[in-house]
Amino acid sequence: MPIVRNKKIEVLFSAEQIAQRTHELAEEIALSDLKDILVISVLKGSFVFAADLIRAFHKAGLAPEVEFISISSYGSGTEAGEIQLLQDIKTEVSGRDVILIDDILESGNTMQFTRNLMLERGASKVAIITLLDKSIRRKAKIEADYVGFECPDKFVVGYGMDVGHAFRELPFVGIVTGDA
Ligand code: IMP
Ligand code: MG
Repeated sequence: MPIVRNKKIEVLFSAEQIAQRTHELAEEIALSDLKDILVISVLKGSFVFAADLIRAFHKAGLAPEVEFISISSYGSGTEAGEIQLLQDIKTEVSGRDVILIDDILESGNTMQFTRNLMLERGASKVAIITLLDKSIRRKAKIEADYVGFECPDKFVVGYGMDVGHAFRELPFVGIVTGDA
């Protein structure tokens, strides 16, 4: 079991599993009816997944425009708080096919807020891709169009995801199980 920052981390999804699934998802999206795609990475958690996903897009023959939006639904702990738009995109979304990229879909509040924002701005289509789906925790009426993996009801870290600002740098998704 990897030890990072003096904590034992159980690997849930390895770097290899994530890479393979990311390529499968890109191939799936390439076969969809989405055109002239604008991907919007929902910061901070999705930046690592987004970086790998757009390169998988390239392999699948897609050439997306890339934007970043910063939404906060958490403090630095693990309890869901209220949704805040911290930093907006600069690109016009009216008439565009948009794909929102998230790291993990939990209550769904973040994605519902972000999708509604893009629809209000006149996006033609808004698809959602999430690396992990913690569907058991859903509160909002929303599902992702593309899901990497179903996530167990545990707090996960790594591959962009943090707990108290730590562990984003891990190349895999894992669970902190205790002190080393
Ligand atoms: P939602 O609004 O409840 O769907 O929350 C989604 C956001 O909370 C995700 O995009 C993550 O950034 C964060 N989040 C939810 N669960 C976890 C977790 O297990 N580990 C790290 N971040 C999480
Ligand atoms: Mg997030």
